[in-house]
Amino acid sequence: MHVGLLLTKKTKECIGWCGLKYFKESLNNHSHFYELGYRFKQKHWGKGFATESSNAILKYGFKKLHIKSIYAITHHENVNSMHVLRKLGFKFIETFDYEGDPTSWFELTKSDWENSI
Ligand SMILES: CC(C)(COP(=O)(O)OP(=O)(O)OC[C@H]1O[C@@H](n2cnc3c(N)ncnc32)[C@H](O)[C@@H]1OP(=O)(O)O)[C@@H](O)C(=O)NCCC(=O)NCCS
Repeated sequence: MHVGLLLTKKTKECIGWCGLKYFKESLNNHSHFYELGYRFKQKHWGKGFATESSNAILKYGFKKLHIKSIYAITHHENVNSMHVLRKLGFKFIETFDYEGDPTSWFELTKSDWENSI
């Protein structure tokens, strides 16, 4: 697990977290993969923090950890999260059933990431 707590530069307030989780177990017919995740306090949404922090952790994942593909899952109604994923270059692959909820499965390959920077 590679996760960072994010603090504002001025007040050092904790605003959320962003990171890569390593999944050993099987999910949507995949196992042993990295998943991008993030969560921010609501009062700090829409300020670009998810995009900025995700870009930093994706760079770390592809350049330092040499990951070939990073995945992301989000509830199919979480439009903010899906918008962030698309901005980051993730491609929607499919919808799958996650504990009874329709869930969107996204993937960003290292080559797609390299071509987008
Ligand atoms: C999803 C989440 C991480 C997005 O974080 P964020 O810091 O607000 O994201 P960003 O500011 O980088 O980008 C948000 C985008 O959505 C747009 N947006 C529209 N309405 C918005 C709203 N009500 N709140 C936030 N963003 C909104 C923003 O304008 C921005 O797009 P743009 O850059 O094209 O203008 C945040 O909403 C959150 O923590 N949600 C709760 C937890 C969660 O859903 N985690 C993901 C689980 S998969």
